[in-house]
Amino acid sequence: MTAADEEIIRLKNVYKLFGPQPTGRAFDLVKAGVGKNDVQRMSGHVVGLNNVNFSIRKGEIFVVMGLSGSGKSTAIRTVNKLHDITSGEVLVDGVDVQLLSGSALQAFRREKMGMVFQHFALFPHRNVIDNVGYGLKVQGVAKSERDKAALQALSLVGLEAYAKNATSELSGGMQQRVGLARALATDPDILLMDEAFSALDPLIRRQMQDEMMEIQDELHKTILFITHDLNEALRIGDRVCIMKDGAVIQIGTPEEILTEPATGYVAQFVQDVDQGRVIQVHEVMTEPRTVDQSATLAQALESINGRGGSFSCDHRGRPTGLLTAEDGLRAARSGTSELAPALRNDFDSVGPSHTLNQVYAAAGRGLPIAVVDDNGKLVGIVDPRSIMEEMGRVEQLVDGFEREVFM
Ligand SMILES: Nc1ncnc2c1ncn2[C@@H]1O[C@H](COP(=O)(O)OP(=O)(O)OP(=O)(O)O)[C@@H](O)[C@H]1O
Ligand SMILES: [Mg+2]
Repeated sequence: MTAADEEIIRLKNVYKLFGPQPTGRAFDLVKAGVGKNDVQRMSGHVVGLNNVNFSIRKGEIFVVMGLSGSGKSTAIRTVNKLHDITSGEVLVDGVDVQLLSGSALQAFRREKMGMVFQHFALFPHRNVIDNVGYGLKVQGVAKSERDKAALQALSLVGLEAYAKNATSELSGGMQQRVGLARALATDPDILLMDEAFSALDPLIRRQMQDEMMEIQDELHKTILFITHDLNEALRIGDRVCIMKDGAVIQIGTPEEILTEPATGYVAQFVQDVDQGRVIQVHEVMTEPRTVDQSATLAQALESINGRGGSFSCDHRGRPTGLLTAEDGLRAARSGTSELAPALRNDFDSVGPSHTLNQVYAAAGRGLPIAVVDDNGKLVGIVDPRSIMEEMGRVEQLVDGFEREVFM
């Protein structure tokens, strides 16, 4: 196991029922597969978590996504034991969280994790730097030292200039940055973020997502991020966990969620997502088709083999010219048998990990697009049609689930 695969948070068969007798009849009903609404009707207990299992690796952004009431907040609260669980096990860095209490629990929360919530929960009468340094103050860190750490955290979120301002003087987006800086100031391994960006305007929200990902590239925290927005989940998540009625429906990379939705419920969400932002070029490209520069026009046309075009390459395999079927046929009709005059060099090149959205403009030209690696070598071809086909395939997947019961 490499360091990157190391597990840091694990929920194992976790159940959480709300009500006076969580381990009584209600629990039996849940285990027998009775649905959340029926459990509530029959026992008066609310199903918070229903046999939840997931494992979060060190350094990843793990996003839990689901509708209101699906159990997202309940799940995150088991990690810092803001909730006791009804049954199961929650392990954080090998520690069984349920066994912690009192000062040991407090120390564990303070040292291991930082928390960011939807409502910033800043002290309005304290200035920014004191808010950010608050967690360190609680830990008994001296003022000069915590100011230093607070300033450093503020610089990560671009707010060091506001250190002495009152938090009430800041905009919502800035206040949320202060919240993030506060969570980072104690330098915890784990960030727990519950709808941290949900109250922000779409534009500011995107900015915050970008900034968080930049900070993450630098600091490599483990981030458990909760959202009800699948677009946000797919944008920032290394892996996404979809919940419904307290149960996990699917866990996967954004690509897997989009292209292999496990149920109609997931597929329905996926329908509303801009897939072009997630699907990458290598998933739709075909094997490179190349034509030898010394070939005749007729031979070159044959190599296209009914597809959009072929590339001629230099001795390092870098594309230098594109022969489309159309250009080739036109040249042939005009009587030439040479390849060179029919080649065009105004083709577009993209990388295998570009997203479809990044190649839309190029695809709009209707020409085959060269996919090149870091050395400029041709590794594939994107036919503009295949982009549309891929989008269509996802639509069909959704249709295929149509007869399932969604809610
Ligand atoms: N303290 C509580 N007492 C009783 N029921 C609770 C409590 N906290 C949560 N629940 C119930 O547990 C279920 C899951 O709630 P939870 O807050 O985890 O949902 P959520 O996915 O975070 O929703 P939201 O997107 O609205 O924040 C809901 O049905 C909720 O009513
Ligand atoms: Mg919630």
